[in-house]
Amino acid sequence: MNILVLGSGGREHTFAWKIAQSNHCKNLFVAPGNSGTQAIATNLDISVTNFEAIKEAVIQNNIEIVVVGPEDPLVQGVHDFFLQDEALKNVVVIGPQKAAAELEGSKEFAKEFMMRHNIPTAAYQSFTKDNVEDGYKFLETLNAPYVLKADGLAAGKGVLILNDLEEAKTELKNMLVDAKFGNASTKVVIEEFLDGIELSCFVLTDGKDYKILPTAKDYKRIGEGDTGLNTGGMGAVSPVPFATEDFFNKIENQIVKPTVEGLQKDNLPYVGFIFIGLIKVGDDPKVIEYNVRMGDPETEAVLPRLKTDMVQIFKAMGNQTLSSIDIEIDNRAATTIVMVSGGYPEAYEKGKEITGIETIEDSIVFHAGAKFQDDKVVTSGGRVLAITSYGETYQEAIKKSYQSIEKLHFDKMYYRKDIGFDL
Ligand code: AMP
Ligand code: GLY
Repeated sequence: MNILVLGSGGREHTFAWKIAQSNHCKNLFVAPGNSGTQAIATNLDISVTNFEAIKEAVIQNNIEIVVVGPEDPLVQGVHDFFLQDEALKNVVVIGPQKAAAELEGSKEFAKEFMMRHNIPTAAYQSFTKDNVEDGYKFLETLNAPYVLKADGLAAGKGVLILNDLEEAKTELKNMLVDAKFGNASTKVVIEEFLDGIELSCFVLTDGKDYKILPTAKDYKRIGEGDTGLNTGGMGAVSPVPFATEDFFNKIENQIVKPTVEGLQKDNLPYVGFIFIGLIKVGDDPKVIEYNVRMGDPETEAVLPRLKTDMVQIFKAMGNQTLSSIDIEIDNRAATTIVMVSGGYPEAYEKGKEITGIETIEDSIVFHAGAKFQDDKVVTSGGRVLAITSYGETYQEAIKKSYQSIEKLHFDKMYYRKDIGFDL
């Protein structure tokens, strides 16, 4: 089969790496891809939201499966675009249609979904600029810290957690009245603060049945000890050591099952990944957010532990036979450390030569913001490389990644030296 992966990050390199191992994959394409995908697939210079150009590439290359990496094309309806097109309607698209993608595209939609299906999550109310005064009153009923979430997609930046009531009110006004996050904050969800440790659960569904992939924990803050600005993710550990069997059963029964059943009850067709952001409060899991795709860098730690053929899984998802697939998981831990450009997540320079990649033996180097320039690999984004290693324990895996990083270099590179510190 010919397969196309949409996206250009570490997540997409990992998908390509896993798909390329399958005997069922004949030709593999990535759009737009990076230097990592270029080495194992054909990169197509197409943006993930240029549906007409994607259509042309799919027809020209006889592509039968399209795996959508990031959320933007899903929220913009790439799956619906395929279904509505005579020439594309039989192509398997991994990623939900627009209606279900609202689970990530709108925080309010996700909250209403959870309420409707009794899925544990933080109490909330949502507000627009027409009732901002009510928002202030609602904040007064809550205890600090205050959690404000822009309703729409804001590239991971739309959540504010504030300790001071007056500051929370000011930020609510900034979001609703002064459009701090543009259209994404015309509506704001205010939530009860949940105190606990976070983890993520990844579910595959064909709309009927589901399979759960290994859990992972990511590290979103730029600074050690979880300090500083939020990033796309600075590292990931899988499995999550505190996700005991008991706790995992709660996740499955209280969250995963009602989510998949809720999608059916609400008539929301869903073929794809559901990434459930969770927080462990006491002994109970609560949902912080849904994403309608895999996480990055969680994919770089989760997929290397999947032994089952990825293409067979995708085929089964496409013809609604996922229940017949046996998901086999490597018992070893896998961890990934992200190397970023100095300055990220704020301004940073690009075009720095990356050296040492070919010397790495004990880790897998997934490329993210990296591209070929002449014969060199140079930085082209904030998150540059994700270094994944296996270990009998997560500590051993992390140690290997750090040893590998010693051999890698680019000007102004930065990475967190404390991934796993809180486990
Ligand atoms: P989200 O974009 O919804 O994942 O939120 C970003 C981050 O904000 C999460 O990873 C959490 O660390 C934090 N967060 C979101 N909602 C809450 C909440 N209700 N209580 C505590 N922390 C939260
Ligand atoms: N690592 C978090 C995300 O992919 O949204």
